[in-house]
Amino acid sequence: IKTQVGIIGAGPAGLTLAHWLKKHGIDSVIIEHRSREYVEARVRAGLLEQNTVDILKTLGLADRLVREGHEHHGVYLSFDGERIRVPFGPYTNGRHITIYGQQEVVKDLTDAWITGGGTILFEAPALELADYDTKHPKIYFEQNGQKGVVECDFIAACDGFHGLGRKTLPKNSYKEYSLTYPFSWLGILAHVPPSSDELIYAYHERGFALHSLRSSTVSRLYIQVENDDKVDNWSDDQIWEELSVRLGTPGWNLQSGPIFEKAITPMRSYFIDNMQAGRLFLAGDAAHIVPPTGGKGLNLAIADVKHLVDAFIDYYHNNSTTGLDMYTPTALRRIWRAQDFSNFMTTLLHKQDEHGSFQYRLQRAKFDYIRISDNYAATVAENYVGLPFESFT
Ligand code: FAD
Ligand code: DHB
Repeated sequence: IKTQVGIIGAGPAGLTLAHWLKKHGIDSVIIEHRSREYVEARVRAGLLEQNTVDILKTLGLADRLVREGHEHHGVYLSFDGERIRVPFGPYTNGRHITIYGQQEVVKDLTDAWITGGGTILFEAPALELADYDTKHPKIYFEQNGQKGVVECDFIAACDGFHGLGRKTLPKNSYKEYSLTYPFSWLGILAHVPPSSDELIYAYHERGFALHSLRSSTVSRLYIQVENDDKVDNWSDDQIWEELSVRLGTPGWNLQSGPIFEKAITPMRSYFIDNMQAGRLFLAGDAAHIVPPTGGKGLNLAIADVKHLVDAFIDYYHNNSTTGLDMYTPTALRRIWRAQDFSNFMTTLLHKQDEHGSFQYRLQRAKFDYIRISDNYAATVAENYVGLPFESFT
């Protein structure tokens, strides 16, 4: 297979990249390790920044998102049962977030790619990335027991945290930063209308809880659990009881309903400070992971793609390699911001130490400060909604 940009991974990053390049007349092919069914059923993120939604709209990929997504103009933060609302509009010139499941984004983008005649190979793991330090990089892959090769001008590794892209980067070309948190999230999907019009993030002495949603009949909720905890340790009743206590505030009730998905996710901050080598470029989770509190992971993946598309346009249409040369430093400015904000939200809202400890008092002080200070609330709002791209230039 010959193409201009060989893309590894049909997650949000790889699919968005393929569509965006196509809009600018640049040809690409996607190679995906898993089956289409597997990728489309993988339940993950739900929070889309306005930046992300705007990009999908510009690419003509947001029809269902606009119909079925839920716009939110504020968020609730709860601490020891006291709930406050941080509005977005007054602090962000009217910007907002949209709740729409990541796997729905993946379905929409995959459908549109295939309908538009795009090439995507499923169940085709990339096995080796070669010659990326020459003008003729190659992706060796396998499909149905047959070996194949993508010959391209550039390789875009959008292959997630466990992908081949990062493993292929020369070890001495980057510094690695990593922080593993001493807790995980148990996430559920349930057939029950959301009990709140907006998301609720809660600190409670029994641990963090988050109330999110997917539709008027499906809710998405999370609780902090121990790293070695197992889904089987939790009955549905226990999960609802715990959510109800942790999210609770006087005069409010949590509706429960049948749970149809349960999974435990570890919490990690990770990134490398170089995302390219020769004609190999990394984007999204391939280069960085943030803990999910604050919902930045998917949005950061799409932001990387924006910078990469700008760079490819520069190369193919303006005959300049400046954008490609500057890809890593350009992307890193936003990545650092997201790392800090995700760490801030995680440490603010999770139980990390004994209730009443010094650490707890610092968390409480931050919460109280958000409540009394417009400036601090504005900091939370503008990061949560996502800073405009111009902010980082
Ligand atoms: P991925 O989605 O991981 O896609 C990578 C793809 O590459 C995969 O399909 C994989 O199969 C494929 N692949 C890997 N190796 C190979 C190979 N060798 N050959 C071919 N293909 C390969 N983010 C948010 O922004 N908001 C949220 O609300 C949010 N909540 C989250 C909640 C949970 C429970 C979890 C787990 C994550 C959450 N995230 C959230 C993070 C978000 O899901 C990720 O950041 C996002 O999936 C990154 O997209 P990506 O395209 O970079 O990588
Ligand atoms: C969701 C996940 C998050 O990590 C978050 O901060 C907000 C919402 C969700 O899955 O809906």
